Amino acid sequence: MNDILRTVNLEKRFGKQAAVSGVSLHVREGTVYGLLGPNGAGKTTTLKMIAGLLRPSSGEIRMNGKPWTRDCLGEIGALIEAPALYGNLTARENLLVHARLLKLPESAIRSALETVDLTNTGRKKASQFSLGMRQRLGIAIALVHSPRLLILDEPTNGLDPLGIQELRELIRSFPARGITVILSSHILSEVEQTADDIGIISEGRLLYEGANRRGTDLEALFMEVVRERQAEGGARHA
Ligand SMILES: Nc1ncnc2c1ncn2[C@@H]1O[C@H](COP(=O)(O)OP(=O)(O)O)[C@@H](O)[C@H]1O
Ligand SMILES: [Mg+2]
Repeated sequence: MNDILRTVNLEKRFGKQAAVSGVSLHVREGTVYGLLGPNGAGKTTTLKMIAGLLRPSSGEIRMNGKPWTRDCLGEIGALIEAPALYGNLTARENLLVHARLLKLPESAIRSALETVDLTNTGRKKASQFSLGMRQRLGIAIALVHSPRLLILDEPTNGLDPLGIQELRELIRSFPARGITVILSSHILSEVEQTADDIGIISEGRLLYEGANRRGTDLEALFMEVVRERQAEGGARHA
């Protein structure tokens, strides 16, 4: 399988602090990639660079084997942090705003709403949506231009168990629709049940990348790589 996206020694510094350093991801086309790490690890910063919302300090992002340019955004959809919705508009109207900007046909709106199962919300305004519905509308907006790569930053944060289950099933359905997904989470079980491949990031560094093998104790692996990293850090400071 080809990598739809790779990063090579990606780095982002905020002042003197390196939020992300030396991160080299390999995201295979047609898979769900789970980027796992504790709060403050650098997940959002990494995803923002891929989505063109932050400029890397150094390193490279490659899409389909070529260096990242603004044109790649036609193939990337992203929901990073909370979705920006117009509370006084319906689901369809929210999508219409984006579809008009991008000069997309009406069919794109219908298709995006069907994908996230929001076709029956009628006149209900986004401000009256449950958190799960808001997330799904955010995903519909990210999908309206039919991207091949979908970036979801902690999409299940704050959802109830039913909302989490629905979103998990939706995410799992994307590869069959020709959409590769990068999903971030600080919740091990989330990634364990959804991802084909996983990357573990901590303190801005990618500590592990590989297949999410069934039966692997992800929690043990996570603790092991994070502890190794801390031991290395400790040795360096000693
Ligand atoms: N705009 C910013 N300015 C300064 N520091 C930032 C900024 N964004 C993130 N950081 C810092 O970078 C680190 C990684 O943050 P983030 O990528 O949001 O982590 P995560 O999404 O894994 O929780 C944190 O220490 C955070 O405080
Ligand atoms: Mg984050």
